[in-house]
Amino acid sequence: MSHFDKVVDRRGTNCFKWDTVEDGVYSFTIADSDYEVPKEVKAALLKRVEHGIFGYTIVPDSYYEAVINWCKRRYGFSIKQDDIIIMNKVLESIALLINLYTKEGDKIVINPPVYPPFFSLTEGNNRELALNHLINDNEYYSLDFEDLENKFKEGAKMYILCNPHNPVGKIYSKAEIEKIVKLCNKYDVFLVSDEIHSDLIIYGHKFTSVGKYFDLHDKMAICISPSKTFNIAGLKIANLVIKNEEIKANVRKHLDCYKIGGASLLSLLACEVAYNECEYWVVEQQKHLYKNYELARNYLNKEVPHLKFASPESTYLLWINLQYLNKTSAQIIEDLKKYKLAVNSGCDYCDNYDGYIRFNLACPESVLKEGLKRLVKYLKDQEKNKTNRL
Ligand SMILES: Cc1ncc(COP(=O)(O)O)c(C=O)c1O
Repeated sequence: MSHFDKVVDRRGTNCFKWDTVEDGVYSFTIADSDYEVPKEVKAALLKRVEHGIFGYTIVPDSYYEAVINWCKRRYGFSIKQDDIIIMNKVLESIALLINLYTKEGDKIVINPPVYPPFFSLTEGNNRELALNHLINDNEYYSLDFEDLENKFKEGAKMYILCNPHNPVGKIYSKAEIEKIVKLCNKYDVFLVSDEIHSDLIIYGHKFTSVGKYFDLHDKMAICISPSKTFNIAGLKIANLVIKNEEIKANVRKHLDCYKIGGASLLSLLACEVAYNECEYWVVEQQKHLYKNYELARNYLNKEVPHLKFASPESTYLLWINLQYLNKTSAQIIEDLKKYKLAVNSGCDYCDNYDGYIRFNLACPESVLKEGLKRLVKYLKDQEKNKTNRL
C-alpha cells in the first residue's frame, strides 16, 4: 500500500481537522493532509528530539542553501541568502506587509472566492477591500484583467495574489503572471504573492511564480512554505522572499522591533531535510492527488451527473457548487452533520458563493471513498425529498 493510502488515526492529537468534529464524522475541512510526513523528515525530527535539549538555536547556512536550491529547481528563480526572511506563518508575513506598505483606509485587491483570512487581514487592519472577483464560467475560473486594472487605476495600494488559488485550484499562466507583475509596476501597486500551494500541482499543469519577474517590479514579496507540501503546518514555518534591498531592510527592522518572525528549530530542520531529500515525495504526492481527484471526478460524475465543480489545476481542494439545492452553505454544513460528514462552507470564501462547499482531497483513498459516498447519499436524498414534495 502506498504511503499516501495508509490510514493514520489523527484523533486525540489536538488535530484541527479531526478533533473538532464528533466521533464517527469524516472530516475533509482544513487544508492539511492526512498522511505522514516523508520518512526522512520524521527520522531527522526523531533524532533531534532524542537529543533532549531544545535551547536557543542558530539558523545554519545549510538551511538557506536548501531554500535557495528549492526555489531554483522547482520555481525557476534565483535568490541569495539575504533575500530569505524566515517567518512562522505565511499569514504573519502578509499581515506585516499590509501594515508596512499600506495605510488605514487604503484599498487592497483580492480575488474572491478566496482564502478567508485575506478578507479578515485587510478589514481587521482597517484597510478597504477592493474585490476583483474571478470570472466564473461554468466552474472554470479566470482573472478579470479589465476590472483588476480599474481597481489599480482607482488607487489600490496592494494586491494579494493567491497563486495557486485556494479554493478554486487555479494556476495562472506565465503570460498572466507577467501581465499581473507589469500592471502592478505600471500603477505602483505592492504585489504580495501567496504561493503556499505551489508544490501541489495536478498532473499536466505548470506553475509560474512571480519570482520569474523580479526584475520587472521592485515592490514585490513572495510567500513560500513547506507546510502544505510536506504536511508540517503545525510546526509553523514560512519563507518570505524579497529582493528589493530597501523593502528587505524595512521588514527586518520591524520584525526586530516586535521580536517576531523566525521559526522553531524543529520546523527549520524539517524544512531543510524535506527540501534537500524529499523532492521524490512531492512527485509521489502529486500522483496520489491526481488519482484522488480522478476518483472523485469519475464517481461524482457517475452518481450525480448534473453536479458542477471546478477542475483543480493545483492544490488538493475540490470546490463544489451545490447552489442548485437552494440552501445556504451553513444549512448544507448542518445537514451534512447527519450524514457524518464535515467540509468547509463556500460562503466563507465570498458571499456570492453561498451554497458552495470545499472538500479536501488530501487523504487516503479509502477515506475519500467513504466521504464521497456520504456526500452522494446526501445529494440523492435531497433529490428524493424534492420529488416527494412535488
Ligand atoms: C492560500 C493560503 N495561504 C496561507 C495559508 C496559511 O498559511 P500559514 O499557516 O503559514 O499562515 C493557507 C492555509 O490554508 C492558504 O491556503
